[in-house]
Amino acid sequence: MAPRTRCLLWSFFFVVLLLVNISFAIEERQAQCDGVNALSPSCQSRESLHYRDFFYIGGRYTKGDSGPTTGTVLVDQVYVEKLTPALGVRQPRPVIFVHPGGRITSPSWLNTPDNRKGFASFFLDLGYQVYLLDTQAVGRSSENDVKNFPLTPGSTIEEVERGYTAPETANLYPTAKDHDKWPGTGLRGDPTFEAFAGSIIPVTTNNIALETALRAAGCQLLQIIGPAFVVAHSFGSFAPILWSNDCPHLVLGSVNLEPANTPFQLFVGLDPATLGSFPTRPWGLTNTRLDYVPPVSDPKELATAPVGEETRERRRCILQVEPARKLPNVASVPYLALTSNASVHVTWDHCVVEYLRQVGASPEWYFLDDLGITGHGLFMHLELGNLEIAKVVHEWIVKTLYGFGVSAGR
Ligand SMILES: *[C@@H]1O[C@H](CO)[C@@H](O)[C@H](O)[C@H]1NC(C)=O
Repeated sequence: MAPRTRCLLWSFFFVVLLLVNISFAIEERQAQCDGVNALSPSCQSRESLHYRDFFYIGGRYTKGDSGPTTGTVLVDQVYVEKLTPALGVRQPRPVIFVHPGGRITSPSWLNTPDNRKGFASFFLDLGYQVYLLDTQAVGRSSENDVKNFPLTPGSTIEEVERGYTAPETANLYPTAKDHDKWPGTGLRGDPTFEAFAGSIIPVTTNNIALETALRAAGCQLLQIIGPAFVVAHSFGSFAPILWSNDCPHLVLGSVNLEPANTPFQLFVGLDPATLGSFPTRPWGLTNTRLDYVPPVSDPKELATAPVGEETRERRRCILQVEPARKLPNVASVPYLALTSNASVHVTWDHCVVEYLRQVGASPEWYFLDDLGITGHGLFMHLELGNLEIAKVVHEWIVKTLYGFGVSAGR
């Protein structure tokens, strides 16, 4: 081929390439790439470039007592995926993310329902290795032990609207009206709401089975990957407590976005007409054994009493009667609670923090409003400005690792 012809051919090739790119860009602009529309082939991902590996870990064999099966089945295993930043790992230790123990699963740490960048990508951008796991009985950790993991539907649409995505419309607690960071109306019919509501799946009612299985699998994961930070959301906060109890040397720090493991009780809904609570978590922060000092073999040996008034602004806690038994393992792990002022958690997160202080821990507790991050609800990590909150978590990790940096706690 003459050099002139070759040159012409190459020029032609580049012009075609350019046109194809331009047409893709135009299409991308024309196509609505918000929310589920981002599934369109012409929409580019907003997540960070990474590699992904997955494994199932933990679990045990059981025979003949798991539903209709009479043979041997492997139960209680957990799905874990490892995301590695494509540009290389630049942080010394990884972060494990724990979703609420049901309702929504580990993909909630990926892109948001309106298709913005999620927490996982923020940490990948900073060079962290990120681990996502589905707790037993949900998502890809669907349980073979069908007998011991009965399921109930996840949060109802009413709970989602009033409690999570549009509390300002129901005004069931004093600061609900300040909530303004959910993308869209937060009500059914809105596309982002529909995308989020679709992610809510069944949850097991057997918390004892769940905790027993997850504490084993979690420490096994930590043994494999070495010391790591754990970031848990809401109901998922029981997990870092159990891992801190069982393998404290492997938990470098526990970050809890609105911890829902309120000691000894589960508050009745969000409706101020039904103030009050059900007893749960007999071991204080969990439904299964914690290693108290002096030890207890039966949690009934823990002497407890209600503390404070039960009001809409601030719920009554159940704490130990002094002198309180301690939880030295749990107390040895640095702990951060993050509470948004416009979330219902502002009315009850003090109970977790006060209990941790009683058992000998030195929890740090940030209110997002005090950091200038306002208007968030329970699902702060999916809301507008979610990455500002991710940055707060990163800065706490840096401070915990190196002993210096920002501190906004009380
Ligand atoms: C956030 O809520 C806490 C607890 O009620 C309160 O002490 C703090 O002042 C609030 N922050 C702002 C900026 O309102």
